Amino acid sequence: MAGNTFGNLFKLSTFGESHGAAIGGVLDGCPPGISIDLKAIQKELDRRKPGQSAIVTQRKEPDTVEFYSGIFEGKTTGTPIGFAIHNTNQKSGDYTHIKDSYRPSHADYVYDQKYGFRDYRGGGRSSARETASRVVAGAIAKQFLSGIKINAYVSQVGDLKLAKDYQELDFSLIESNPVRCPDPVMASKMEEYIKEVRKEGDTIGGVISCVIQNVPIGLGEPVFDKLHAELGKAMLSINAVKGFEYGSGFEGIKMKGSEHNDQYNPDGSTKTNYSGGIQGGISNGMDIYFNVAFKPVATVIQPYETIDKEGNTVMTKGKGRHDPCVVPRAVPIVEAMAALVLADYSLLARSINL
Ligand SMILES: Cc1cc2nc3c(=O)[nH]c(=O)nc-3n(C[C@H](O)[C@H](O)[C@H](O)COP(=O)(O)O)c2cc1C
Repeated sequence: MAGNTFGNLFKLSTFGESHGAAIGGVLDGCPPGISIDLKAIQKELDRRKPGQSAIVTQRKEPDTVEFYSGIFEGKTTGTPIGFAIHNTNQKSGDYTHIKDSYRPSHADYVYDQKYGFRDYRGGGRSSARETASRVVAGAIAKQFLSGIKINAYVSQVGDLKLAKDYQELDFSLIESNPVRCPDPVMASKMEEYIKEVRKEGDTIGGVISCVIQNVPIGLGEPVFDKLHAELGKAMLSINAVKGFEYGSGFEGIKMKGSEHNDQYNPDGSTKTNYSGGIQGGISNGMDIYFNVAFKPVATVIQPYETIDKEGNTVMTKGKGRHDPCVVPRAVPIVEAMAALVLADYSLLARSINL
């Protein structure tokens, strides 16, 4: 299996399966001398961990990270940072129903077709459990990027859409509710809706919005490695992501160029920011903002039709612990992937843009 490494210079490789002994990673290229706050890393993991509220999967995992290398006396040494999170709450029996058949819209069928063999327990490598390693590395990237602020939040669940621009929101409220929507009224509507969907044994999708502030001018490598292209790749690599748009995105097509052009102030900043802080693939110093769409995930606790390994049609029913809506837990994953991109592109800018 190729493609387990992300980044050019600030480079993360992850390993592990949902029901194996552990998941973890090696973060290579982190510069030496960065002060590391281990509690802040664990805090990020706690935002992603299962069992944190009534609207997420009830798998109980403490998700405690252990570091094996690369950090000494509270600082990075510049050597590879190795870490692992032990899996402690596996219930492999929950997955015997998918051993010989495939969950529609999950990765079971394609893994079997491509590799001829798969660890079906909890989805194996295709499980979003892998993203815990990204959150660890992203938390280190955030500490490297001191000064740059990254805030993600849930802006839509099903049809319930937060109709406010990010400038009207108080980001300090993101963690004030289990949905991670900074508007308390909308958050409680979303929470109730997710509970209803869970009762039906079903799932629902949502959107995470992300805002990155205090980004210096000049991050991004034209032509193929544009900053927004890398952010897009980072976000689309997260499990269950179906869409990415930045700046004015798909809505921008309704405007005319004369309205959409971001006019300059004398200091080079712009009066509007439809560009989303990136022009020609390079950050222009304005806020970077983007949306990430997550699908309603595959595990439904309802009878459904599928096929087995021989191609026979079979009836089965989802079992086990699953997320009725993944966006509340995916907020720290989006932030982590954004931080990894910015850390990597900051190093690239230093090394080849001189
Ligand atoms: C935080 C998070 C939790 C997830 N939990 C589940 C789950 O409980 N059940 C499920 O079927 N998929 C879940 N997924 C999505 C699957 O991992 C994903 O749909 C699967 O790997 C197939 O990949 P694709 O949807 O990107 O094509 C989750 C994704 C995220 C980001």
